[in-house]
Amino acid sequence: MPRRVVIDTDPGVDDAVAILLALASPELEVVALTTVAGNVALDKTTLNARRLLELAGRPDVIVAAGMAEALAGSPAHEGGVHGEDGLGDLDWDEPSVPVHPDDAVEVLRAAIEAGPLTVVAIGPLTNLAVLLRRYPGVDERVERVVIMGGASFMGNVTPAAEFNIWADPEAAREVFAARWPMAIMPLDLTHQAFLNDDDLAYLRSLRTEVGRRCADMLEPYAAFHERWYANRDIIMHDATAIYELIDPTAITSEGVAATVETGGEYSRGATWFDRRPAHRASPVRVGVRLDNDRFRALVRERLATYR
Ligand code: RIB
Ligand code: CA
Repeated sequence: MPRRVVIDTDPGVDDAVAILLALASPELEVVALTTVAGNVALDKTTLNARRLLELAGRPDVIVAAGMAEALAGSPAHEGGVHGEDGLGDLDWDEPSVPVHPDDAVEVLRAAIEAGPLTVVAIGPLTNLAVLLRRYPGVDERVERVVIMGGASFMGNVTPAAEFNIWADPEAAREVFAARWPMAIMPLDLTHQAFLNDDDLAYLRSLRTEVGRRCADMLEPYAAFHERWYANRDIIMHDATAIYELIDPTAITSEGVAATVETGGEYSRGATWFDRRPAHRASPVRVGVRLDNDRFRALVRERLATYR
């Protein structure tokens, strides 16, 4: 039986690859995309979720808009990493995929109550924190939460903090403290998963709309990586959270206790993963290692299934 998932997302170019990968994977049944402000404002992340479902030919998947601001107000962020529109500033037709009348939290709760559900969180964690506040005890009815977020050693938006956590540290702290089983993919793992120019050429060689659009979206993201990291390896942060569900043997993980710094002059948004032996059997896992060639091969294989 495919695993029922809701993807909570702030598309975002790497979110786009993660979503297209999930929709092309028979191991998963994507019930909904719930959107949150993050890479770009909520109206844009929600439009982008609709665009991606239209591109994938999946109007059956629900789109529900979530929180427009972080719990304590969203920090100023120059943005631009994913383009003005959040998907690399391509030309898109207006999608026909609608926005659900209920907000993301209500759609998440309904999906949880309808049966076993895994939540994949690849943006700021505001929606999940509001879910926990609005429905105390809901964390005991969620099968699993897989999060792209945090960093064991070095951040990206600050030296200490990774963007998804930095954007709403209060939400992340509450989500990390919940009782649901959790797997966290921090930057020290996600930096091991990247696509390169050969992959862009492969995507174009597919001669499909998905292949072309992915390559077109990823090109400016590759240019950002070259400016920021001095190479064009395009880090697929969010796709690692989907990859973990498609192939659980592909990512080596460790049991930890995890929390988030919400104070600190320089450390706000930092994640702390306590790897001491006492936490070895913890239901909170942190991703440690993956093989990029195996990752790239799966991404290519699945994106090639679109016609
Ligand atoms: O730090 C990487 C994360 O921030 C990814 O989810 C990316 O989409 C951005 O939201
Ligand atoms: Ca994201």
